[in-house]
Amino acid sequence: MPASAWIVRFADLVPPAAPVLDLAAGGGRHTRFFAARGHPVLAVDRDISRLPDGGLAWDLEDGSPWPFADRRFGAVVVVNYLHRPTLAAAVSLVAPGGLLLYETFAEGQEAFGRPRNPDFLLRPGELLQAVRGRLVVLAYEHGQVEGPRMVQRIAAMDPGPAGRPDVSSSISTSR
Ligand SMILES: C[S@@+](CC[C@H](N)C(=O)[O-])C[C@H]1O[C@@H](n2cnc3c(N)ncnc32)[C@H](O)[C@@H]1O
Repeated sequence: MPASAWIVRFADLVPPAAPVLDLAAGGGRHTRFFAARGHPVLAVDRDISRLPDGGLAWDLEDGSPWPFADRRFGAVVVVNYLHRPTLAAAVSLVAPGGLLLYETFAEGQEAFGRPRNPDFLLRPGELLQAVRGRLVVLAYEHGQVEGPRMVQRIAAMDPGPAGRPDVSSSISTSR
């Protein structure tokens, strides 16, 4: 499966060569995507059988302190996974100037299929609330996408000491 288009869209804003954390990495599609772009990637999942070598086998939900909790990352990537305490922790792991890239199923997905459990569905505005006061929102969506699926997604940046994000490197003109 290719990397999510949402993740690809913001990849150029991740500081070059900065470490990336891929939480609940699954088969490692985003691990491979960022590694191919020159980032060292820490991929974490309770099942690392489908991950490239070096993935960390860890249960993110059992309450024990994460062995990487004192590190900070140029991007924290979470796709198709929701555990609310992990969402809060993911926000705190973004380095100054780094990004949180999060995309998963949202309320409304029940009409299309699984997951239907509200524990796995983001409420309207939930990702915005999670980053408020901590990260600057670059883009946010909650709506139906191809599948059909209902998703919520955010790209948010730690403003760093300057207090506002530098996204100048991403600005381009078509003519
Ligand atoms: C739907 S997959 C998404 C994989 C990947 N992020 C992607 O987009 O391709 C969800 C992943 O969450 C992992 N996961 C579920 N519960 C977990 C837990 N408690 N700790 C660590 N990983 C967990 C599963 O093993 C699975 O790989």
